[in-house]
Amino acid sequence: MPQSSSPRPHRLGAGLAFVLSGALFASPLSAQQWRAGAVAETYATLCASCHGARMQGGSAPSMLDDEWAHGGDDESLMRSIRDGIPGNGMPPWGALFSDKDIRALVNYIHEVRAKHRFDQTVFAEPADEMVLTSGSTTFRLKTWMRDVVEPWSMAFLPDGRAIVNEKRGRAYLVSTEAPDTDTRIEGLPPIFADGQGGLYDVVLHPRYEDTGWLYFAFADGTEEASITRVIRGRLEGHRLVDVSDIFRARPEHYVSRRSHYGGRIVFDEDGYLFFTLGERGRRDDAQELSLPNGKIHRLHDDGRIPADNPFVDTPGALPSIWSYGHRNPQGLALHPITGELFSVEHGPRGGDELNLVLRGANYGWPLVTFGIEYNGNPISDRSEAEGMQSPLTHWTPSIGICGLDVYDGDLFPEWKHQLFIASLSGESVERLRVVEGRVVERATVLQRLGRVRHVVTGPDGALYVLLPRRIARLSPVE
Ligand code: HEC
Repeated sequence: MPQSSSPRPHRLGAGLAFVLSGALFASPLSAQQWRAGAVAETYATLCASCHGARMQGGSAPSMLDDEWAHGGDDESLMRSIRDGIPGNGMPPWGALFSDKDIRALVNYIHEVRAKHRFDQTVFAEPADEMVLTSGSTTFRLKTWMRDVVEPWSMAFLPDGRAIVNEKRGRAYLVSTEAPDTDTRIEGLPPIFADGQGGLYDVVLHPRYEDTGWLYFAFADGTEEASITRVIRGRLEGHRLVDVSDIFRARPEHYVSRRSHYGGRIVFDEDGYLFFTLGERGRRDDAQELSLPNGKIHRLHDDGRIPADNPFVDTPGALPSIWSYGHRNPQGLALHPITGELFSVEHGPRGGDELNLVLRGANYGWPLVTFGIEYNGNPISDRSEAEGMQSPLTHWTPSIGICGLDVYDGDLFPEWKHQLFIASLSGESVERLRVVEGRVVERATVLQRLGRVRHVVTGPDGALYVLLPRRIARLSPVE
């Protein structure tokens, strides 16, 4: 038996011979020491000798192609690893690893496969104007606004102008003909722009032409403590006036972390305002109904609490909460025909989710997730559980999911009412057709033009894509 007391995997590499001979399985102490830890190291130590350092294959089959002898879905992969393939040279690892650890290995296999696919693909060099194809659709991508820095959101006004929000805390009121950055809007409250903190969404009141109300979400606070806040105001020239709070957390709910603010706002057909608030890096808070983080909230347009919110009668619960158990929902969109409210939320390493947002539902974070820790440690052995809402689909490995729009224009009839999703680390725009809660078709619309924060349908039917230093407009090519 190896007697090493070090948990570091490479020290334990000497145990490999024991594993293969089956002798190690008798020792529970060793089994503990062998826990997955950094999953890449586990793979390198225990699997690479047969499957190859890059999973390209060796004495054991490649895991990069799509040919799985024993099934390529998560359950089958977990079974192959846990039980081994007796008689065919694949050892069983179940005595060494918990299901949590095996899930982390499966995620790692997905990550390496995705990276391999990405590296195999040839992409066009980013240019101001490009003609691209996705499926049977050919479209022109053209820079519409340049010199913007990390645009996070935009909203079109009925008079032919648009508002563009930059994450670093600036908003512009631009003409759609010739958008430029000499058009800053003054009068926004101070914005805490640091880490992931900054200026997020901007949306119009459903009866904007009568009311003139514009809603903004942003990080409020200081280096010590901050949280997402929602305000509204009216434009007077390039100045926001009549500013008032729609949602402002209590001082004790401000948090020192600088991550996971959420920040997306949507009005539904009945005029209720929904907005997302990430768990602010405090994952257990997402299950706590007395705290605002890790939730989607629902309010009247002036910030009052609707009497029929799900937790108004729950002692200790915040009455604005509509759903909970969210990690960092940065996308929220309403289907204009079915009225379904969709959200996308950024998972940890793996486990980016598309959710159908339902009244009072628990989305499970951090008790259930498809993701693992950034350092490769497992988070949960469960990806679903009784009483918790499972995502309609998930991305494992993560694509760094951000904004979401249901395309409602006429320029691309084949895309009408499909979901468009912005991806940061995946540097892509994803298209999903969802019918009755099921994803029936999916495709990548564009890729490798930089991190994408949002996709927005314009009143002209074009799709506007918010890239790191520009906003591009997509229109069809005959
Ligand atoms: C001693 C060599 C060896 C080691 C070490 C090894 N494997 Fe395997 N593995 C094999 C062989 C051989 C097969 C093919 C068995 C078959 O096709 O019936 C296999 C099959 C698999 C399969 C199923 C593939 C399919 O086509 O369905 C998975 C998944 C897998 N291994 C994962 C792992 C992981 C993860 C590790 C490390 C924890 C690992 N293996 C370590 C030899 C090995």
